[in-house]
Amino acid sequence: MTSNIDSRLILEARAASLVFPHSFVFGAATAAYQIEGAPDADGKGESIWDRFCKRSGVIVDSSSGDIACDSYHRWKDDISVLKALGLGAYRFSFAWTRLLPTGRGAANAKGIAFYDRLIDDLLEAGIEPYATLYHWDLPQTLQDAGGWYNRDTADALADYAARAARSFGDRVKRWTTLNEPWTFCWSGHASGEDAPGFCDGARGGVVASHHALLGHGKAVPAIRAEVTDASVGIVLDLNVAEPASGDPQDVAAAQRFDGAQNRWYLDAVFKGAYPQDMLELYGDLLPAIHAEDNELIAAPIDYLGVNIYRRSVIAAGDELSPLNYRRIQPAGSYSAVGYEIWPRCMYDILRYVNDRYAPKEIHISENGVATQPEQVSADGHVWDELRAAYYVDHLEQVAKAAAEGVPVRGYFAWTLMDNFEWAYGYTTPFGITHVDFNTQRRTIKYSGEVYALIARQENMATSGSAARG
Ligand code: NOJ
Repeated sequence: MTSNIDSRLILEARAASLVFPHSFVFGAATAAYQIEGAPDADGKGESIWDRFCKRSGVIVDSSSGDIACDSYHRWKDDISVLKALGLGAYRFSFAWTRLLPTGRGAANAKGIAFYDRLIDDLLEAGIEPYATLYHWDLPQTLQDAGGWYNRDTADALADYAARAARSFGDRVKRWTTLNEPWTFCWSGHASGEDAPGFCDGARGGVVASHHALLGHGKAVPAIRAEVTDASVGIVLDLNVAEPASGDPQDVAAAQRFDGAQNRWYLDAVFKGAYPQDMLELYGDLLPAIHAEDNELIAAPIDYLGVNIYRRSVIAAGDELSPLNYRRIQPAGSYSAVGYEIWPRCMYDILRYVNDRYAPKEIHISENGVATQPEQVSADGHVWDELRAAYYVDHLEQVAKAAAEGVPVRGYFAWTLMDNFEWAYGYTTPFGITHVDFNTQRRTIKYSGEVYALIARQENMATSGSAARG
């Protein structure tokens, strides 16, 4: 029988033996609504998440992001954690309504000043900022005008992108337009667990998705026009869909699921056309797709961000008609949000994306695991061995794909610190750093230490050590 200490040593040895390509980027990710708090400080406008959390029964612990990690005031603490972890990059998002309180028009100087401080302090700490424009917090005024059901929201996103690029592009070179359109379009408009909380079925998901992708397509050149040396991409949440059995009905359901979650976005961005089988399946549910839309959406990008948490085992069923699928939960271990822990999903999705779409560069823009809330123990540690093993297991799969030539250039842990996990509130932390929400004290967890071990060795390699690949 191995003791906890033995199993930690074994895990740490595995972590230390991982080999990544030269100049591989290790970072951690967050999003504005999940960490910043200060929902109306210094002229910030209301977002759909500010509004959604006020509805009763939508957040399991009836909480909100009103305070969260208070990063609006404590961003220096966040940077200290990034530094202590030895990470080279920080993926964060701008709160659209801090920069443009009503979504369009005049910019809010105090909102700009906040991100100026954050960016300047990151650069001073030697940490590269990776900025996401849209991580789900649409300005409520734009929602009142139809939100992602309104084609004009695509133009609003492009104008906001240009404004942000003008303000920060001298220092921020890595830009992401959208984070996870599949989730914010479908969970926000089809099934209603996320803001704005519409239960409009597949039509909601499809209409919102087209306008969001259009916004992406318009934002890409808008960013480039302001920042000639910008590297611009989109972050998609992808899952390899495995049929639950060889039954043709299950195979067809997995194909539909893959079409809805993966190919709809990847084909549009990389091939300039939605997949034919899905166009036929959606039929009357589709919004007006104008002649120029496909080309706009396929604006060339510099990198693809992939958020990956699990695989999807799919059988025929009655979820979200006409997708008509049912998710199977194979025997195994599961995270606190019910995701199967299946490290191979990482390798499989990297191969899937590379073999079918050949992006110039791929970043794993999110990967991580939720647990039950944790405590700092008397010895000052948070012993989250499950999460530490999750990172080593998944990073092994990244290293394997990289060794086979998949151009995966970076990895971002989700998430830098425990924060507001949307409809789960504060009940399912994902952080590599524990946050005591009474005191706002940040404590790096064991998983953070193990992740740092991997990241630090790579930093040695980038500064010239021959020790690693
Ligand atoms: C994806 C989202 O981008 C992020 O906001 C969320 O917290 C994580 N997944 C975990 O659910």
